[in-house]
Amino acid sequence: MRMNSFIGKKILSIIRNGNYAHPGEEEAIELTFRNIPKDKNRLMLDIGCGRGGTAHYLHTHGWGNVVGVDIDSESIHYANQQYASLDFFACNIVDISKSIERKFDLLYLFNSFYAFDNQLAALESLRKVAKASSTLHIFDYIDLGDYFKEPIIEAGAPFLPHPLKNGHFENMMGKAGWSLSKTTDITLKYEQWYSQFMTKVHQKHKEIIEIGGEDAMETVCRLYGGLLESIQKGMLGGVIVEAKPKQ
Ligand SMILES: C[S@@+](CC[C@H](N)C(=O)[O-])C[C@H]1O[C@@H](n2cnc3c(N)ncnc32)[C@H](O)[C@@H]1O
Repeated sequence: MRMNSFIGKKILSIIRNGNYAHPGEEEAIELTFRNIPKDKNRLMLDIGCGRGGTAHYLHTHGWGNVVGVDIDSESIHYANQQYASLDFFACNIVDISKSIERKFDLLYLFNSFYAFDNQLAALESLRKVAKASSTLHIFDYIDLGDYFKEPIIEAGAPFLPHPLKNGHFENMMGKAGWSLSKTTDITLKYEQWYSQFMTKVHQKHKEIIEIGGEDAMETVCRLYGGLLESIQKGMLGGVIVEAKPKQ
């Protein structure tokens, strides 16, 4: 079982008690959107939306209308059934301008950027569907310097293929036509959220085993316990990045 698979995200939604595959669940959404005024007329794009819980939360709490996209068509099918008032599309983010003609006021990503094979192409692609007045918000993992030396491994490959990296990231944004406006270190929050997450994993072990068997429980403990340890050792952290299109 891979955690970004449909079953993996189902297990995460049970542990997190909501359709979220990012740490901090609703608290993380509130933190990321704390300085963004609510506006029902805003059009937002949720990139790597998974099962759609974040899009639904933002829509129902007044931040605007949301379109969600994800490469995993099973998750998109689930999101469309679960949240019928919103639009969800299956597509690889690098192809989004071919599938969606609309331009967005606000674009956001919750723990999906780290999973993109071609992050530069993804940022270039997002620029094409962003209004000149838009803002981009990336909530994700950051390698604090040494994580890449001892990454957590899932099925023979890094569990977090491409966490953000200081320096490298700013350059990539610039090349893709984005201008960085702010970065906020939320590593202490990540530590607290992953520690709470591991407590919930143990509380919900019966449900996890019912869905994915003993293997799923072992995988969740190894991967997320490993992330918590990397955070506690100061190797991995969390960050919120805000950017605007270059004028
Ligand atoms: C950890 S999950 C986060 C899901 C969601 N943002 C949330 O917080 O619940 C990462 C998501 O990124 C999606 N993803 C990975 N690569 C992608 C790509 N190239 N284009 C679109 N989505 C992608 C995965 O299918 C997965 O749903």
